[in-house]
Amino acid sequence: MPVTAHRPLARGLARALRISESWLFARELFHQPSAIGAIWPSSSRLATRMAARVPRHRDGLVVELGAGTGAVTQALLKDGIAPRRLVVIERSARFVRYLRLRFPGVRVLQGDAAHLTDLLPPGQPIDAIVSSLPLRSLPPKVAAAIVAQWWTLLPVGGTVIQYTYDLRARGLASLPGFLERASDIVWANLPPARVMALECHCSSPHLGATAGD
Ligand SMILES: C[S@@+](CC[C@H](N)C(=O)[O-])C[C@H]1O[C@@H](n2cnc3c(N)ncnc32)[C@H](O)[C@@H]1O
Repeated sequence: MPVTAHRPLARGLARALRISESWLFARELFHQPSAIGAIWPSSSRLATRMAARVPRHRDGLVVELGAGTGAVTQALLKDGIAPRRLVVIERSARFVRYLRLRFPGVRVLQGDAAHLTDLLPPGQPIDAIVSSLPLRSLPPKVAAAIVAQWWTLLPVGGTVIQYTYDLRARGLASLPGFLERASDIVWANLPPARVMALECHCSSPHLGATAGD
């Protein structure tokens, strides 16, 4: 088949993939709105901005939380994060099936980020946690348990990258144990979002505090 004949086929496949992604997202949103906490998958602009905040030239794990349909996973890989460094955690079984098909070389684990310690391979240092979790719409106890896992797992100097639709982002900026290293708004997202990079100074965990991104 001539190369030019492949192009419409590739375009058609890409369109079909986008449509099926949107359906999958809408379906999950309908069934568990507070766990999804967004009205649309992350835009490629938002995903790229998150990936750009992952520290370079390190060899530890990059743990992505709440990957959904994989916009951020895609950006992390495109930005040069080796698939062997990436571990993706997602609670929804449907999203997990989809992510495993979309990224066959990446470890995609089904589970709850509130129990991250039990899910990750033991003894591997973590450089960064890249989270799309809707901390504001999850029950406060669950959000606090998730942040407690970050305190437990990250070394001092480790990075958390999180976005929020609260453009003022007061809650996360004052999260005990973390220093804000970068914070900027991505307007090209539905709705616009603030991406924050936080540095862990987690040597003395403040367990019991709540996360309010
Ligand atoms: C805002 S959506 C992610 C959007 C994603 N960036 C995309 O483009 O599709 C939040 C995701 O977090 C997942 N999630 C919610 N609570 C979770 C938990 N406790 N542990 C792991 N994943 C969770 C949801 O299933 C959902 O996929």
